[in-house]
Amino acid sequence: MTDSSYAMAATGPGGPEVLARIQTTLAAPEFGEVQIEHRAIGVNFIDCYFRSGLYPWPEPERLIPGAEAAGVISAVGPGVSGWKAGDRVAYTLPNNAYASARNIAAAHVVRLPDGISFETAASVMLKGLTTRYLVKDSFALRPGQQVLFHAAAGGVGLLAGQWMKAMGVHPVGTAGGPEKCALARSHGFAEMIDYRAGDFRAAARQLVPEGFHVVYDSVGKDTLLASLKCLRLHGTLVNFGQSSGAVSDFRIADLAAGSFHLTRPVLFHFTSDRKWLERAADELFGLILDGRIAVQTQSEPLTSAAKVHADLEGRRTTGSTVLIP
Ligand SMILES: NC(=O)c1ccc[n+]([C@@H]2O[C@H](COP(=O)([O-])OP(=O)(O)OC[C@H]3O[C@@H](n4cnc5c(N)ncnc54)[C@H](OP(=O)(O)O)[C@@H]3O)[C@@H](O)[C@H]2O)c1
Repeated sequence: MTDSSYAMAATGPGGPEVLARIQTTLAAPEFGEVQIEHRAIGVNFIDCYFRSGLYPWPEPERLIPGAEAAGVISAVGPGVSGWKAGDRVAYTLPNNAYASARNIAAAHVVRLPDGISFETAASVMLKGLTTRYLVKDSFALRPGQQVLFHAAAGGVGLLAGQWMKAMGVHPVGTAGGPEKCALARSHGFAEMIDYRAGDFRAAARQLVPEGFHVVYDSVGKDTLLASLKCLRLHGTLVNFGQSSGAVSDFRIADLAAGSFHLTRPVLFHFTSDRKWLERAADELFGLILDGRIAVQTQSEPLTSAAKVHADLEGRRTTGSTVLIP
């Protein structure tokens, strides 16, 4: 038992202020589990969806948010092979990561190569693996295809811009404000549209009059219908989030305007396939180690989780933020 562990938790849905430090007692890992001492924990929009109550609470009485982290294995449960105390690891899985330590099924854990720091791993496990399925699985991008990617200066956005550039794609991005646009340009985006300054659809049409092969939209309510109108015939809309709120006014008939394809993917449906997880993590770490993806991260103490949520929801962040226990 570890009695000195702690977590950031909420007892009911609400704003960032519902997150408070609690003392936790960690039991020995059960069958198939490893115990991990966290060194860095990634912050993601999905943490806000759970905290606010947009997504149903996994446990009725308490929520510990957090869906990606990196650290060191401190104990190995029965039935686990291939892992030992001291191994450097990372994982992505919804909830329970905002903690100094936790137990988790070994099937979710990947090994960190030398040269990948805990901060980097905790910045990319969820966002980088999301990028992987976006550019290879949800839509198999080919060099030269036309791409529009919303929230390009965000955590997923900065990784996606660089991954697409490495694939020979020159994407157009959107972001709120000139500074975010400049940052996204330096992370793989060939052209940027400041969608706070005006109608992004008109600007996108001007840049790519024939329309885009694919639009990646994680903003949701504020952008989705206009995103559909940016596609070329038979184009694909990948809606993978709702940072501005849930989409409520979409009708299937909207796809008839161009025989469009629509998909609404979720990372954890990909990572539940162990082979996919290992291959995708290898690719991601490889791109970072050979310098084709640079990871932009800021660190805050784990106890500052509420402030970090407020900044993320207030559109004040760029790139990834990690919490340090
Ligand atoms: N489905 C999946 O598997 C999956 C996995 C990972 C992430 N996601 C989704 O991908 C998106 C990006 O995640 P992230 O953690 O990297 O976040 P992020 O992109 O760093 O932050 C969200 C960004 O969305 C933009 N935004 C536009 N309207 C907004 C509004 N009304 N309120 C807040 N933000 C708004 C803001 O950028 P601007 O100021 O530039 O507009 C903001 O910085 C999220 O929607 C998340 O849920 C989905």
